[in-house]
Amino acid sequence: MRTGFIGQLLNYLRFRVNCKRRGGYGIHSPYVYSLYTETLNADSKNNKVFERIEQYRKDLRRCGLSIVRQRLGDNPENGFPGDKVKLARIARNVSVPPHLGRLLFRLCSRFNPEIIVELGTSVGISTMYMAAANPNSKVYTIEGEESILAIARNRFKQMGFTNIEPIAGNFDVQLPELIKRISTIDFAFIDGDHNGRALLQNFNRMLPRVADTSVFVIDDIRWSPGMEAAWKQICSNPKVTISIDLFRCGILFFRTGIAKQHFLLRYGPY
Ligand SMILES: C[S@@+](CC[C@H](N)C(=O)[O-])C[C@H]1O[C@@H](n2cnc3c(N)ncnc32)[C@H](O)[C@@H]1O
Repeated sequence: MRTGFIGQLLNYLRFRVNCKRRGGYGIHSPYVYSLYTETLNADSKNNKVFERIEQYRKDLRRCGLSIVRQRLGDNPENGFPGDKVKLARIARNVSVPPHLGRLLFRLCSRFNPEIIVELGTSVGISTMYMAAANPNSKVYTIEGEESILAIARNRFKQMGFTNIEPIAGNFDVQLPELIKRISTIDFAFIDGDHNGRALLQNFNRMLPRVADTSVFVIDDIRWSPGMEAAWKQICSNPKVTISIDLFRCGILFFRTGIAKQHFLLRYGPY
């Protein structure tokens, strides 16, 4: 079940007590310091692609269309099976906010991943931010709600994103199939099933395709006690050498030959 307002407030207070100050003060790892100052904390809205993606979000928020959902994952915003959900509500409550979209863009620009895997396309907003960073990246994005994926697929075409391969179906079926086709996962964005057990399962499925240079971003790590516990378990995995907690989402690195470290850093409204 989703952590309530008081639980989130306590979580935030704990985060603020333990996190580093904005600006990168006190980050002793040169690798994380440069990542923080040059990429995480170097937000800029000044980009024509961001404007186009945000225009798409605005269009969805204004449109009166609804879709019938199956409800996949542990997110009540998704509605109930057979429920009609307004696209405007999905665009408002389910898609990544602009500051997180821009962060995905900057991370993909910095690390230039050849293969990106996204779990949870929804209307495709986060997918577009990642795909826009580098036309040579290939973005595989899996979504179980076919009616939503059809909307995303249409917009990818309209906006000229030729480097996105949308995959319809449940992660349980489609992720193992995709993993057979690719040799590495250079960048992953896990934003699907908001359930700790499913998060761990999907992370473990992806682990054999992790390279030294891979970067994983997991959204909503404090969505529920189960998601928090899964995030902690993932951070303690021996393959994860650097984990960064940005309060809403977490970033993982798998570089070998360095001491394991965990950071709490401020980004965006947190
Ligand atoms: C939070 S939304 C993704 C938002 C998207 N990343 C964005 O920012 O625009 C999560 C999506 O994952 C899908 N999903 C959840 N569990 C799934 C599963 N087991 N298999 C396939 N899709 C799933 C839901 O249908 C939902 O559209």
